[in-house]
Amino acid sequence: MKKTRHFITLADVNINELNRIFALAEETKANFKNGIRSKILDGKVLALIFEKMSLRTRVSFESGMSQLGGSSMLLEDQHIGFGKRESIADIGHVLSSMVDAIVFRAKSHKSVTELAKYSSCPVINALTDLSHPCQALADMLTIKEEFGTLKGKKVVWVGDSNNVAASLIEIAAKLGVKIVVSSPKGYQFTQDHLNKIIGKDPVEGFAIDLVENPQDAVRQADAVYTDVWVSMGQENEEEERKRAFVNYQVNQKLMQIAGKDAIFLHCLPARRGLEVTDDVMDSGQSRIIEQAANRMHAQKGLLIWLLNEAK
Ligand code: CP
Ligand code: NVA
Repeated sequence: MKKTRHFITLADVNINELNRIFALAEETKANFKNGIRSKILDGKVLALIFEKMSLRTRVSFESGMSQLGGSSMLLEDQHIGFGKRESIADIGHVLSSMVDAIVFRAKSHKSVTELAKYSSCPVINALTDLSHPCQALADMLTIKEEFGTLKGKKVVWVGDSNNVAASLIEIAAKLGVKIVVSSPKGYQFTQDHLNKIIGKDPVEGFAIDLVENPQDAVRQADAVYTDVWVSMGQENEEEERKRAFVNYQVNQKLMQIAGKDAIFLHCLPARRGLEVTDDVMDSGQSRIIEQAANRMHAQKGLLIWLLNEAK
């Protein structure tokens, strides 16, 4: 029996497959810009389960699927009562008998791996507490477009060592990108966690550095990247997190240290005035809108590969 392929973390794809996803993304983006919308996923159906809020992820999957000739449906928790109304196993068996792929944003990473266990069609992780691999695809597409290459580029992550940062490191290890992580004490990756996401075989060009002081971290950055200090599900830690991250704001002063050629990235949504100031978000160095738009193009590449090509 053919093994079902999933996209739950970057570990689910090898380097050749990742490059193929990027090639498809670039091709479909060029087509889209030229007004060509090839119906390569004609008749295919995508189910989207969201246990948390979303703008970009939901819209990029739904629009992308529709532009490729397929269709999609949103299944909100209040409709299907994930894990409450029936077991995850039953949901996986039933849903995958009717749709071609399942996109799942879950409160817990384990729910996604559980669903994948029982699904006979691909399950795509649309963000969990541990990772956000679809975001990482768009991030790399954006950096590649900016600099023409990924090899040896230095991306400095300022802020929480969270799900988005974890997937960024995981993809960087596969593509030879340098990462510097600048997080305050108590919010830093453990060596154990890093070893797990980097894997045994990072490619040449990859390096990771943990530099606690953000002013030191951003020197010679090609990109400065941040995210919210309080992720979805951490709302009860808001006050202590705001205190812990107060010196980790990406503002004009920090961007000046990075240099005028550095770009600014944010996965969005942003809390303007907290982790980043308006003048950085809206500056000429900011690529936040291109980065968000690339969610759709990257995921189109992913969908075409998963549904039509993956073995
Ligand atoms: N970046 C991102 O995943 O955005 P949403 O939460 O709006 O989907
Ligand atoms: N770290 C954020 C990312 C949102 C796209 C969160 O998990 O809420």
